[in-house]
Amino acid sequence: MTRFSVNDRPVEYRMDPETPLLWALRDASNLTGTKYGCGTGECGACTVDIDGEAIRSCLVTIAECEGRFVTTIEALSRDRSHPVQQAWVAEQVPQCGFCQSGMIMAAAALLRTNSNPTDAEIDAAITNICRCGTYPRIRGAIRRAGRVLRGEERIAAAPPPGIRPEDAARAVPAMRKPPGS
Ligand code: FES
Ligand code: FES
Repeated sequence: MTRFSVNDRPVEYRMDPETPLLWALRDASNLTGTKYGCGTGECGACTVDIDGEAIRSCLVTIAECEGRFVTTIEALSRDRSHPVQQAWVAEQVPQCGFCQSGMIMAAAALLRTNSNPTDAEIDAAITNICRCGTYPRIRGAIRRAGRVLRGEERIAAAPPPGIRPEDAARAVPAMRKPPGS
């Protein structure tokens, strides 16, 4: 049994303690915003926040999360109001979108410690891979989110998602019961 906090809620996973956090989040908690890309720590698609740090959840076991605070993309904000999310929408960063949850979580962690990163600092801190090549827009959105955090710019809030994060986590077809069951 492994206990820690996911998105500000206490959770207790009755799974093998060596289970990667990524699978506990996706398969047990149905938090599918965190993506599986490589499973070997290379791509960053699985990035979540653990105690304020951007961590690749495919490389962390749930046993290693005992007593820690995990935040996924679903809880970065409840209403897309986080400056990184606002800047991401305003700069129209995503293409296919697969890498973007991890990118956003990594960007939010970077800006928490450095609200005015240079491009070199962004490149050094965010080693996530985007196969669509959205890197220039990612850098632009991070710089813009930094301006918002420093109070130099305001971005009109993106429209609310129209679904609560906890409901979004339940609303994927894989979790629906088949008719008649
Ligand atoms: S899935 Fe974790 S780094 Fe690629
Ligand atoms: S937007 Fe497609 S992989 Fe990054």
